[in-house]
Amino acid sequence: MRYAHITGWGAYLPPRIVTNDELAQLVPTSDDWIRERTGIRERRIAGEDDHTSDMAVKAGRRALAVANLDPGRLQLVICATSTPDYLMPNTASLIQDGLGATHAAAFDLNTACSGFVYALAVASAMIRSEVYENALVIGAESMSRVMDWSDRTTCVLFGDGAGAVVLQASDMPGGVLGTSLGSDGSGGNVLRVGLGTRKHFTPEMLAGGDGPYMHMAGGEVYRFATRIMNSVTREVVEAASLTMDDIDLIIPHQANTRILQAAAKQLHIPMDRIYSNLHKYGNTSAASVPLALVDAIEEGRLHAGDHLVMVGFGGGLTWGACLVQWRYDVSDRQWPIWQRGLQGARFGLAGVKSWTHRAERQLRFMEIRLRRRARQRREERAKAKRESGPGPGPEANGKAG
Ligand code: UT7
Repeated sequence: MRYAHITGWGAYLPPRIVTNDELAQLVPTSDDWIRERTGIRERRIAGEDDHTSDMAVKAGRRALAVANLDPGRLQLVICATSTPDYLMPNTASLIQDGLGATHAAAFDLNTACSGFVYALAVASAMIRSEVYENALVIGAESMSRVMDWSDRTTCVLFGDGAGAVVLQASDMPGGVLGTSLGSDGSGGNVLRVGLGTRKHFTPEMLAGGDGPYMHMAGGEVYRFATRIMNSVTREVVEAASLTMDDIDLIIPHQANTRILQAAAKQLHIPMDRIYSNLHKYGNTSAASVPLALVDAIEEGRLHAGDHLVMVGFGGGLTWGACLVQWRYDVSDRQWPIWQRGLQGARFGLAGVKSWTHRAERQLRFMEIRLRRRARQRREERAKAKRESGPGPGPEANGKAG
C-alpha cells in the first residue's frame, strides 16, 4: 500500500497589517461590527510587488525546506487560487520557475475557498496511485486585488497570503486517509468575481461600478457554509470508519467565527477542537486552510498519530474535506544547522538553474530578433536597389561594340 504524507509546510504573509479601525476610515464600518459579526481583528494586504505567485514561492520554499526536499526533485506543483497573476500563464508554472523546480509539472486549480482541500485531494490521489512520488500543494491569494474598497459588505472580510504543504509517498500507514469533494453550480452567482472572458470591460462599465470585483450574497453563503461544514466533515470521518471522538483537530476554512461556532454545535465537539486564526488574517480564500494548518503545527496543536480534518467551502459553490493522520511532531522536522546550510545552497543552485533557463530564452529571442532585423535590412537594401532602376549599362559608358 502507498500513502501520501504531509512532510513539509510553510506560510508567507505580507508584512502590511490593516486593522479594522483603518478600514473604518475607508467605509462606514467599525471595529465592533467587524469583530462581533465575523471575529476578524486585522488582515494582511499584499504590497504592489507581492503578487500571488511571489507569495506562493516564499511559502513553497519554506515547505520544501521543512520536508528537506530539493526543488530539482519536485514532481508536481498545484496552486489553488482564484486570484492568479494572469489568466494565462498559470500561476503554478510561475511558481515552478520561481522555485527552480525544473522537473515538475504544474497547474492551477480554482475552486475558491475550498481550493486547497481540492488540490490536496488531487495530489494525494496522484501519489497513492503511483503517478508521482511527491507534490507541492499551495493555496495562495491576493484577495485585496479583487476587492471593491468602497463596499463594506466584502472589503472588511478578506486578506492576502499563501500557505503550502509538501506531500510525499510512503509505505507507512497514515497521511491523507480520505477525501470528500462536492459542488453545486446553481449557487455560482452568490459569490463571484466577474473577471473573465464573459465580459468585455469598457471604461464606462468600470466607472459604473460593475467592475471586476468580489460580489457576495453574505447571508446566502453563510447558510450554505454552516450546513456544508457539518455534513462534509461527517462524511469524510464516517467513510474512514471513525467517529467525531477520534478527531483531534478540525482545520476549517476561516470565513467567520460564527460559522465555526455553529459547526462545533452541529458536530457535537467543543470549540477548542476547531482551529481558528481568523482574527489575524481574515478570510484568505484558498490560502486560509494551509495558513491555519501551519499556525496549528507551530503552536504544537498536532502530534504524531493525531487525526485531523481540513474542510473548505466557498465559491462555485464548492466544498471539500480531507481526513489526515498526522505523522510528525514538529521537532522531527527541525534540521541541524549544517543541513539547513546545505538546503540554502541547493535552493540557491535551483534558483540559478531557473535564471539560466530564463536567460537562455532571452538570448534566443534576442538572436532571433537580430537575425530578423538583419534580414529586413538586406531586403530593404535589395528593394531600394531594384527601385533605383538598372544602373548605367555597358552601352552608356561607351564600351559596347
Ligand atoms: O469564503 C467563502 C465563504 N464566505 C463566507 O462563508 C461568508 C459567509 N457570510 C458571512 O460571514 C456573513 O454573512 C457576513 C459577515 C458577510 C455578513 O454578516 P451578517 O450578519 O450576515 O450581516 P448582514 O449581511 O445580514 O448585514 C446586517 C447589517 C446590514 O445592515 P441593515 O440592512 O440591517 O441596515 C448591512 O448593511 O449589517 C450591515 N453591514 C455592515 N455594517 C457595518 C454589512 N457589512 C457591514 C460592515 N460594517 N462592514
